[in-house]
Amino acid sequence: MFKVPPIPADRLPALLRAMPKAELHIHIEGSLEPELIFTLARRNDLTLPYASVDELRSAYAFTNLQSFLDIYYAGASVLLHEQDFYDMARAYLARAAMDNVAHTEIFFDPQTHTAHGVAIETVINGLHRACEDARAELGISATLILCFLRHLSEASAFETLEQALPLIDKIVGVGLDSSELGHPPEKFARVFARCRDLGLHLVAHAGEEGPPAYIWSALDVLKVERIDHGVQAVHDAALMKRLAQDRIALTVCPLSNQKLRVFPNLADHNLGRLLEAGLAATVNSDDPAYFGGYINDNFTQVFAATGLTARNAYQLAFNSFEASFASNADKRVWEHRLKETFERFVEYD
Ligand code: ADE
Ligand code: ZN
Repeated sequence: MFKVPPIPADRLPALLRAMPKAELHIHIEGSLEPELIFTLARRNDLTLPYASVDELRSAYAFTNLQSFLDIYYAGASVLLHEQDFYDMARAYLARAAMDNVAHTEIFFDPQTHTAHGVAIETVINGLHRACEDARAELGISATLILCFLRHLSEASAFETLEQALPLIDKIVGVGLDSSELGHPPEKFARVFARCRDLGLHLVAHAGEEGPPAYIWSALDVLKVERIDHGVQAVHDAALMKRLAQDRIALTVCPLSNQKLRVFPNLADHNLGRLLEAGLAATVNSDDPAYFGGYINDNFTQVFAATGLTARNAYQLAFNSFEASFASNADKRVWEHRLKETFERFVEYD
């Protein structure tokens, strides 16, 4: 691997912002900023239970995952038309491009929208068009991952998959999100097996609030290729070994973990420990409009709070490309650009 040159500590935040990276854990509904929620509510003749953007933002005080999900699903209810989904994704992609995100794999929750009468093709077509336009106009590569809501039934997940089948070429994979505790991965074993047969990539949230056992079953029962969050793995030494040996990437989201109180403080985050144990950790924003920052804010804040180094930065960005579902040719191009960025930071010292 590239030998990371010494980079002065005061240049580290600029390097974190400048380095190309992939974002592999972003819920597009979680990128919906309060301003856009109000714009879409007005456009769709909906009345929100908040008088202003500031009032809505002040409701973003979470104590755990469920307290966040309640408000996140309410926010997503303003999305009704294809253009709404397009505008939301386009805004995220423009923001991500500013953070030097070269590639992103975007989660979306179709059941949130179909539950109140929005057709799945409205959702997927709007998001997909935004990805295509962003590639042409912003130079950012973007694909879609359909997530099943784990608090709903297996039957609902199967029904969603059936609805998505005519549009299957517009997604690269499936994931599993929403309320983790009480909804173990094995509830969706048969749905994931079917998705695997369809040739889709597989990921799942596990070990965010839930126990290491959920990470084991995401791997062994669902047969996922990446674990979303996975920070609870540190409580199981055998699991840590398995994740390291099999190069299973963890899509870690530091500011999300801080805001949902997975760790008492950002300084207590275990990202450094995961890297030290040889795990393929990555840094991501999860729901940036709700958790106070996009991907570069996640990088700069967790590095400042925990004292990670330029070497860690290179590893995290490199891991993000390696763990992506992009082609090997694209990965090599991005990894080359990553190396060039690091070399530039030494040269100008
Ligand atoms: N949906 C959106 N964000 C999520 C998270 N952090 N965990 C589970 N489901 C989610
Ligand atoms: Zn998530």
